[in-house]
Amino acid sequence: MILQADNPAVEVHDLTVMYNKKPALWSVDFSIPGGTLAGIVGPNGAGKSTLIKAMMQLIPASSGYVKLFNQSLDSVRNRVSYVPQRESVDWDFPASVMDVVLMGRYGKRSLLSRLTKADRQIALDSLKKVGMEAYTGRQISQLSGGQQQRVFIARSLAQEADLYFMDEPFAGVDATTEKAILDLLLTMRKEGKTILVVHHDLQSAKSYFDWVIMLNTRLVAAGPKEDVFTPELLGETYGGKLPLLMNVGELAARKDFPVRE
Ligand SMILES: Nc1ncnc2c1ncn2[C@@H]1O[C@H](COP(=O)(O)OP(=O)(O)OP(=O)(O)O)[C@@H](O)[C@H]1O
Ligand SMILES: [Mg+2]
Repeated sequence: MILQADNPAVEVHDLTVMYNKKPALWSVDFSIPGGTLAGIVGPNGAGKSTLIKAMMQLIPASSGYVKLFNQSLDSVRNRVSYVPQRESVDWDFPASVMDVVLMGRYGKRSLLSRLTKADRQIALDSLKKVGMEAYTGRQISQLSGGQQQRVFIARSLAQEADLYFMDEPFAGVDATTEKAILDLLLTMRKEGKTILVVHHDLQSAKSYFDWVIMLNTRLVAAGPKEDVFTPELLGETYGGKLPLLMNVGELAARKDFPVRE
């Protein structure tokens, strides 16, 4: 079940990525409409982070190509923002919270121009949006995991991009923060941004996202959530772990999930 988007902000064509001759992604093909909050779901090791890294050209693809706003990443780099999975970041790097968020502004400036007062204001506003404005001078190594996550989201917001790739932004944050981040993403969608989020929890995935990508090395499904959230496709994605998820499957089948406007 692969439904292609009209007016896509993201197109992935026949993307294959190998690590040591072993495929982590195999011939993945999908698109995402502009102005959508989309989710990537799949089990551990499914290739979710690999997919985002390949789209950001952080790792090479052995075949296929990606188009963002109908162009290559190089032509639209300053319209694209990436939040890496928390575990993949070196948090001992000596930098303050403000330094980290200001990094989001460098892409907007030429090499020789300095960051301005306006950049600092945008960084501070971004920190406010994630409730971290009280920590500007703190070293990032001295934050809790959930706080580090929020700082990285603030850095991404400070980029003022049009397309956001976020690898598990909800991992390790408390319920209140999760709600605050979700509200933020919904506001961004209203402003016309396109957001692609790797997410682990299937229950909330069904209510959070408009469009869902189901991945397990191969693409299992992609399309509006109403079309792809079926017991069959969930089973195909999660394989042997399906019994754990039967409840979700039944709920999905009953189609009684609230649909968020
Ligand atoms: N640098 C690497 N070298 C070799 N193999 C890798 C490397 N990075 C990832 N892999 C392997 O590629 C596969 C996909 O990994 P990836 O991190 O993309 O999965 P994921 O879906 O993001 O998983 P998780 O839910 O645990 O974050 C896994 O089998 C992983 O072991
Ligand atoms: Mg991952």
